Amino acid sequence: MMPLRLAWWLVLAASPGVAAASPAASPGIVQDESATRAELLALRREIARHDELYFRRGAPEISDFEYDELKRRLRALEAAAPDAGGVGDDRTGAFPVARHGAPMLSLDKAHTDEELGAFHARIASRLGREDVVYRVEPKYDGIAVSLTYEHGRLLRVVTRGDGSEGDDLTANARVLLPALPARLSASAEGAATWPARVEVRGEVFMSLTEFARLNAEREAASEALHASPRNLAVGTLRTHDPADVAGRRLELVCFGWGVWERGAGEGPPETLASFAAWLAERGLPVAGGVQIAEGRAGMLAAVAAARAASAAGDFPTDGVVVKLERVADQHVLGVGPAGPRWAVARKFEPERASTRLLGITWQVGRTGVLTPVAELDPVALGGATVARATLHNADEIARRDLRVGDTVWVARAGEIIPAIVGVDKTRRAVASQPYDFPDTCPACAAALAREDGRAAWRCVNAACPAQAARRIAHWASPSALDLRGLGPALIDKLVAGGAVRGPADLYRDDAAVFADLGSGAARRLREEIAASRARAKADGARLLTGLGLPGVGRESARKLAESFGGLAELAQADEARLRAAGLGRATAQGVAEHLARAEVRAEFAALLAAGLGETWETSGAAGVFAGQTVVVTGRLARWTRAEVEARLAAAGARVASDVTAATTLVVAGEAAGSAREQARKRGVEIIDEAELVRRLEVR
Ligand code: IVH
Repeated sequence: MMPLRLAWWLVLAASPGVAAASPAASPGIVQDESATRAELLALRREIARHDELYFRRGAPEISDFEYDELKRRLRALEAAAPDAGGVGDDRTGAFPVARHGAPMLSLDKAHTDEELGAFHARIASRLGREDVVYRVEPKYDGIAVSLTYEHGRLLRVVTRGDGSEGDDLTANARVLLPALPARLSASAEGAATWPARVEVRGEVFMSLTEFARLNAEREAASEALHASPRNLAVGTLRTHDPADVAGRRLELVCFGWGVWERGAGEGPPETLASFAAWLAERGLPVAGGVQIAEGRAGMLAAVAAARAASAAGDFPTDGVVVKLERVADQHVLGVGPAGPRWAVARKFEPERASTRLLGITWQVGRTGVLTPVAELDPVALGGATVARATLHNADEIARRDLRVGDTVWVARAGEIIPAIVGVDKTRRAVASQPYDFPDTCPACAAALAREDGRAAWRCVNAACPAQAARRIAHWASPSALDLRGLGPALIDKLVAGGAVRGPADLYRDDAAVFADLGSGAARRLREEIAASRARAKADGARLLTGLGLPGVGRESARKLAESFGGLAELAQADEARLRAAGLGRATAQGVAEHLARAEVRAEFAALLAAGLGETWETSGAAGVFAGQTVVVTGRLARWTRAEVEARLAAAGARVASDVTAATTLVVAGEAAGSAREQARKRGVEIIDEAELVRRLEVR
């Protein structure tokens, strides 16, 4: 237990606003009542501040581990000075609010097996038997949502909020969640016996694969990495314009219900297993990795098994939820102030290790933004050796008062990216000095600038070689011009030679560009460059992706390529014109600002002078279904037949009504007809609606 307690007080010591908290206030040590009250109030304020950062802004300052320690300390103090507790609140004020029919509760937490044992003891005593039947499910780490269906139709999607009312995110959820049916399926017998109204409770999250994909894109562009899949899911679902998060994929999982008004339809299930079966039959996604366990020993074994399996799933998880399987048992237990008495969340602390911070290095991105990286004394963590950790931005260093030489706690946040989650200030050298932030660019020594309201520092030197290298790397990446032979070492060499200051210079056919290369390497590179010139002409979306316009990925680039005839026209575009091309509000604004910058204008001019981007080809030819002949069979929940055919055509497909030798793909909806059978016989690829939505990258 010692490391936890130690870390707890380190966290408090690091938090401004909790001066009253000190090791002397540890449970078991007597202190006077007013001091306890002062600490309790300070701690509540501090926790409320972290709730605000976590729930509303999706940008926590402290790790879950640190937060849980604060909550644990609060519980200890509350036990000494009982007072009403508080719940979080994720309403943002930016969306309309909607009331929940039944309150959306939180869950009590258990941090140890002893606490789980106590949970079982309470339940066994209340039910009067030991052989209690439990359901153990992974605890998905995303944003809690309530989906209201009336007579089988989706009415709204609302966040937990303060438990009584939350943000109404229906419009965003409809476009961002491929797994969210607009209509519930009929039962297997074909009968539409939906309840008059039901609130399905679940979690929206981002898969680890998707999170890794998005971060890999950012890494390739030397942009600061997203902190965690949870934050990214929260930020994405709460976007002000879905077009701004085009191409990000969110998932949904359902595991509970609030209101269930039967009307003329079916009544609520009697067990969670039958509820899961109902969800699946109705087309709603259910939790995987579920275990049914009996009694205290069975439950503890299931939790241990879930813990061992937790790294294997493709979803962010921070523990398991243990619930009573039988609804009648749940009713006997009832609901307490923190949540139902029939369920508990067993949190698994992320794997942590302590090591020394050897230094902080700075990476320069293609727009000049500087990202700090912690250089660590290599340490074993989660089966890998960790030598670097992400620090996100300069403010994080200042807020934690992180110093070179410090002993730090490193954890694998979101199970992927190692991050610093705490500083052990007791082990700080007396002579240690606050971190001295650089005031010049590590690559070009130009002065740095800080943009208003942004946490990032930028190198504003348009001629910075590190920025040039990053811009070229982005241009050369597979989704842009795909110059496979142009790796980081070669790019650095070309930039260091002085003749290459941006992508356009590669196309000037200037011997100086290749002067430092051997003749074979120069020839190969010239061939690749020539091929990429043809690619830029044949597919404007590639060229526009390669430009690295802020917030513009492949999908937005495709829209721009379709809407603009060439670079000269794009250069003139204002925000309204960019929005008309299909960009989201924030993206359009960012791109308009970007286009107004002198160095960007110069880069466009250089590309045009090098014969790139005067005009390009587009549309169907570049669509995801280009060259495909597609047949749609059965009903889709999301679109009418006309809508889906229009979308397929826009993505380059030829849409046909019957499966023939020319058919390359069949989309099979609900109650798919003989076309599916035909396709199977002919060995034609068959996809379902969810996969179609994914391929269309629908927003
Ligand atoms: S059951 C009455 N099952 O965790 C609450 N919750 O900390 C019943 N969560 O608000 C919740 N995975 O958003 C349940 N398999 C799971 C879950 C899960 C994630 C979330 C849920 C809840 C929060 C409680």
